[in-house]
Amino acid sequence: MNNLYESQKLGLWYMSAALVLFGAQILFGLLIAYQYLNPDFLFGIFNFNIGRILHINAMVVWLLMGFIGAVYWFLPVETGRETVGIKLGKLAFFILLAALTVVILVYIFVQTGAGNKISLWFINEGREYIEAPRWADIGIVIVVLVFLYNVFATVFASKKITGIMGVLMIDLVALAGLYLAGMFYTVNISLDQYFWWWVIHLWVEATWEVLIGCIMALALMYVLKTPRKIVEGWLYLEVFLVFGTGILGLGHHYFWIGTPEYWLGIGGFFSALEPIPLVAMIIHAVYDAGVQRLKTVNKPALFWILAQAFGNFIGAGVWGFMQTLPQINLYSHGTQLAASHGHLAFFGAYVTTNIAVAYIMVHKIRGGEVKLMDSKLWKYAYVLMIISIIGMAGSMMVAGFAQTEIERAVGGSTWQAYINAHLHPWMVEPMYWRFGFGFLMLIGYILLIVDLLTIGKKEEKTAVEEVAHA
Ligand code: HEM
Ligand code: HEM
Ligand SMILES: [Fe+2]
Repeated sequence: MNNLYESQKLGLWYMSAALVLFGAQILFGLLIAYQYLNPDFLFGIFNFNIGRILHINAMVVWLLMGFIGAVYWFLPVETGRETVGIKLGKLAFFILLAALTVVILVYIFVQTGAGNKISLWFINEGREYIEAPRWADIGIVIVVLVFLYNVFATVFASKKITGIMGVLMIDLVALAGLYLAGMFYTVNISLDQYFWWWVIHLWVEATWEVLIGCIMALALMYVLKTPRKIVEGWLYLEVFLVFGTGILGLGHHYFWIGTPEYWLGIGGFFSALEPIPLVAMIIHAVYDAGVQRLKTVNKPALFWILAQAFGNFIGAGVWGFMQTLPQINLYSHGTQLAASHGHLAFFGAYVTTNIAVAYIMVHKIRGGEVKLMDSKLWKYAYVLMIISIIGMAGSMMVAGFAQTEIERAVGGSTWQAYINAHLHPWMVEPMYWRFGFGFLMLIGYILLIVDLLTIGKKEEKTAVEEVAHA
């Protein structure tokens, strides 16, 4: 650990906390999946809506914490110096942890409140994925400002701005700025949704994609020794395509929320183009891996990077495309098909990224980046997690198709049609499969954590022994 910059230690803390929250996300996922099977379970004590809030908020927070960890990890590598204001950065980390603990405890024990400003400030702001109460919102903004200061001050102090760092800095400003759009309460539900999507869509389909584009560029340079010129060239192209299609692609969430009709055309057209940059990312990663003939000193990281390239394209690109044309979305909107896509995309694009970076971190602290790092366990975890996410998304897809057909196309979206769909075997049975595959995901997660804690340790010991013998 002595060969680490302080910034990298902070990156490691962020990633560790993130992975713990990932475990919490999975447990809450299992709970709400079980409540689909047995709706009476914990009814009145810990209802589905509360478990769901915890499941998806834990996801957003842990993925963001992982990204921040990755940036703190790579920042000194890119700039060749310690991060400026690192003490402040560490303080912000602990403030964030304390705030998260309070928010989680309030979600669990207070759960709901009256429909007034006090609830909004102290319990729940009520916007899906970013439900944190207003006080925590402001805290999050402060923590993110510290992070931005750290990144900007460090890059400027190093007096050289690499292409990757330039893109990263601009992207982080956009990512942080968009969060503010989710903080203003309006009584008009259309207007509220309109700006809420600025956060959710423009995060996951624009600024997060560019952020992981930067992280993947750094990871590829490290794992495959891909030349900077090549990764930066691809990165610029990806940025152009991601923003070019993703910004107006926002319109695919404006089909049915009371916004003007022209969004049908704009949203349908631009979002249909969104898979293009994701294809570019696959070509980039696979080409680089091919040039190196999969030769690397960090096998698990390389395989998670490849899973990322394919997962991003299939989960976000293909599964998103499937339901993005208004003619189709009219019937599939809000069914389990959306949940199928949500799981496959978040896992494929972002969970994989964080796991790859976690392996890069572990490699440095155990093997010093030169020795080959490999184990049996990472392969089991890899295969199990990928099978389980495909199984879960597949189950939800079957349910979603059934819902689209029975509830929407045939039944015409009536309350009775909704009930008919939910009682149909094609909807009921996949909910059991989802729970089963979710359980497999939990096992995969446990193996992953055990592997991260142990991989490379044996080699480290033999290296120490060799030195002692010499
Ligand atoms: C990594 C990138 C992506 C992630 C993480 C993601 C995630 C999600 C999630 C979680 C939802 C459900 C939102 C809700 O709760 O209402 C959703 C909805 C949707 N996504 Fe994506 N998405 C991504 C990329 C894409 C792309 C590239 C497309 C189009 C090609 C797309 C098309 C859609 C559509 C049309 C919906 C609305 C579904 C409905 O009407 O119910 N997504 N996405
Ligand atoms: C044990 C594993 C998991 C189980 C059993 C599970 C189960 C569930 C359930 C039952 C829902 C509620 C769906 C609904 O409202 O009808 C849900 C929502 C969601 N989960 Fe999971 N989940 C798991 C893991 C994950 C993972 C690994 C991710 C991504 C990183 C994820 C992302 C999401 C998202 C984005 C939503 C909201 C989807 C939407 O509204 O369309 N989940 N999950
Ligand atoms: Fe979207």
